[in-house]
Amino acid sequence: MPRKIIIDTDPGQDDAMAILLALASPELEVVGITAVAGNVPLALTQKNARMVCELAGRADIPVYAGADRPLKRELVTAEYVHGKTGLDGPVLPEPTMQLRDGHGADFIVDTIMAEPEGEVTLCPLAPLTNVAMALEKEPRIAGRLREIVLMGGGCFEGGNVTPAAEFNIYVDPEAADIVLRAGVPMTVVPLDVTHKTLTTASRVARFRDMGTRPGEAAAQMMEFFERFDEQKYGTDGGPLHDPNVIAYLLKPELYSGRQINVEIETSSELTMGMTVADWWGVTNRPKNALWVRDVDADGFFELLTERVGRL
Ligand code: RIB
Ligand code: CA
Repeated sequence: MPRKIIIDTDPGQDDAMAILLALASPELEVVGITAVAGNVPLALTQKNARMVCELAGRADIPVYAGADRPLKRELVTAEYVHGKTGLDGPVLPEPTMQLRDGHGADFIVDTIMAEPEGEVTLCPLAPLTNVAMALEKEPRIAGRLREIVLMGGGCFEGGNVTPAAEFNIYVDPEAADIVLRAGVPMTVVPLDVTHKTLTTASRVARFRDMGTRPGEAAAQMMEFFERFDEQKYGTDGGPLHDPNVIAYLLKPELYSGRQINVEIETSSELTMGMTVADWWGVTNRPKNALWVRDVDADGFFELLTERVGRL
C-alpha cells in the first residue's frame, strides 16, 4: 500500500522538485497539496503548485490554497531567490486544473480525521502556518497523524535568512512553535542536511540529458534557483532543500540523525525563528524531534534523477 502524504508547500523551485519526486514515486500517494504564503505570496504559490502538478501530468491532484500570511507576523517573501513568479527559470503554461474550494488547513483536518488513524504523513516544505492552523482547529489530528516530516531550521549550519534562522521557520515562528510542541512524531530536515545536497553542474546536466519536458524544466528551475546561493556560498550549485523531505520517506537509509529536543525562538528579534536544537543533550527538555544531520548526497541525486526521469 502506498504511503499517504499531504504536501504543504510554497513553490518555489525546490518545492517543485519535491512535488515532482513525490508524484513520480509509486511508494507514495499524494492525497493533496496545500499551498501557503512563503517564498512568494499565496496567489502565486497556489498557482505554481498547480503548474507543477500539470508538468508531472497529474491534473488530478487536489490543490488547495491555505494561509495568505503568517499567524501573527507580517509576511516575508523571497523573490530574490525564486524570482518574481516564484518559479522563474522554465516557461510553464498557465494552469488549467482548478484550485479546490476550501482552505488548505481544513483539507488537512478533514483528511486526517477521515483517514484511518496513523495513515497520513504531513510533509511541510514551507512556513508552518497551515499546519499550525490545522492543529489549532482540530487538536485531535495530532494523535492521528503518522508523522510530520518537515524541511526547516538549522543547527550546525546556522540560518539562511538571518544568522540564526532558516526561512521556513523565520517567516512564521509562532506556527513552528505550535507544531514542534504538538506531540506529533516529528522529523526535521534542516539546513544541516540540505547544504550538503548541492545542484552541481554535472548533477543538473543529468536532468537536461533526459530530453523530457519535466527534465528540462527541472534543469531550468535548478539553474535559476541556485544562482543566489552560488553567489552567497561560493559553491558549484546551491542547496536543494525540499526534495530531501520526500527522499527521506522513500530511502531513509540515505539519512542519519538523532532524537533531540528542538524549540523555537519566538521573542528575541535577534534570534527570532531560531531552531534551538539540543544536539548534545545538555538539557532535560523532551526529545520531540528526529533531527536529521547527514545525507548521502550522491544517493539523494541518484534517486531524484531516476524518479524525475520516469515522468
Ligand atoms: O530555507 C529553505 C526553505 O525556504 C525551502 O523550503 C525553500 O523553498 C524556502 O521555502
Ligand atoms: Ca519551500
